[in-house]
Amino acid sequence: MSNEWEVLISAEALQRRVRELGEAISRDYAGREPLLVGILRGAWVFLADLVRCISIPIRCDFMGVSSYGPQTESQGLVRITSDLSEPVTGQDLLVVEDIVDTGLTIDYLLRNLSARRPRTLKICTLLNKPDRRRVEIPLDYVGFNIPSCFVIGYGLDYNQHHRELPFIATLPPSALSVSPPG
Ligand code: PRP
Repeated sequence: MSNEWEVLISAEALQRRVRELGEAISRDYAGREPLLVGILRGAWVFLADLVRCISIPIRCDFMGVSSYGPQTESQGLVRITSDLSEPVTGQDLLVVEDIVDTGLTIDYLLRNLSARRPRTLKICTLLNKPDRRRVEIPLDYVGFNIPSCFVIGYGLDYNQHHRELPFIATLPPSALSVSPPG
């Protein structure tokens, strides 16, 4: 893989913003014990840093979801690759995502999780691409609004590469390979 990326959000800026999000979550959920639901695979790096910036008791669980196909864009067909380990009825759920792009994945997740009757259901995403939205989603915590470009690092991948980078970077279209849908 060639290193054609350009840093969009530095490691320091990420850590600063994650700290602010952790403080806001700690304030908003004071007196409760929210269940943070990390969406795999992309959100695990963000979630690991976020929980260490939260000063109230929390619990964590994970859901694995995947869009069908190898495309760089969500097609709206989401499948659950691994489910929550316990029922969540009556709990304060905070879904933690790395990025909301078209909104189709989180829209699916919201409908799926609402059906399990949590007490509250909110969303925290590190990155948000508002220009790409295909379905309106109420986002409760947003780290950064970013332009419509392909981003990698800090948990986000391109073909499973680059998740380990400590910053968010952009990949130019010339670095993305093109394949027919299917
Ligand atoms: C990313 C991200 C979201 C989804 C957002 O997951 O983690 O779940 O895309 O896209 P959308 O708003 O257009 O639906 P991805 O499918 O890349 O899988 P990954 O988390 O395993 O990297």
